[in-house]
Amino acid sequence: MKTKALYTGSFDPLTNGHLDIIKRAARLYDELTLGIIVNPQKKSMFTLEERQQMLIEALKSIENVKVDHFSGLTADYVNDNGYDVVVRGLRNAADFGYELQMAQMNDTLFRDGVETVFLMADPKYSFISSSVIKEVFLLGGSIEGLVPDTILEYMKRNA
Ligand code: COA
Repeated sequence: MKTKALYTGSFDPLTNGHLDIIKRAARLYDELTLGIIVNPQKKSMFTLEERQQMLIEALKSIENVKVDHFSGLTADYVNDNGYDVVVRGLRNAADFGYELQMAQMNDTLFRDGVETVFLMADPKYSFISSSVIKEVFLLGGSIEGLVPDTILEYMKRNA
């Protein structure tokens, strides 16, 4: 039976930290879906359509990766779409505290057999977040090497 994994996030924008987790998860599981969260509470730089387009472009060489979006509870989306695994990346101890709480809460909501699996971030990227990337970019600093080239080009074109 194929194992369907889900990696969620705002991806506003996708960074090389995310990409590292995505490539490793895509090697571990038969199918990996990137679930873009539609969260009207979180102010985003890119629209959902832009984020979708950027992800598709940046990930086109990874065959078993798909892009989707959802709103509401992750657990409902997982249960309704038959995912087996939710992949999360851990950059530091702060991530661990937050992710542990989320995984344990989700565990009460997931259908039987769904697991949250943590991959440790590559230390090269453990200081990156989408917000820090946007801030440096908007203030004119270089973010080369921290986001995929296609994302950087997209950001420059749409700045
Ligand atoms: N490399 C680089 N950056 C990373 C990263 C990595 N490996 N892992 C996380 N980040 C960054 C993200 O870019 C994000 O940056 P930002 O806050 O500047 O945008 C930040 O770290 C936090 O990441 P994450 O926790 O994944 O937040 P998110 O907004 O991208 O996604 C969801 C949030 C979707 C995981 C979460 O809100 C959710 O599940 N919501 C659904 C509602 C729900 O089910 N709630 C109940 C939960 S128990």
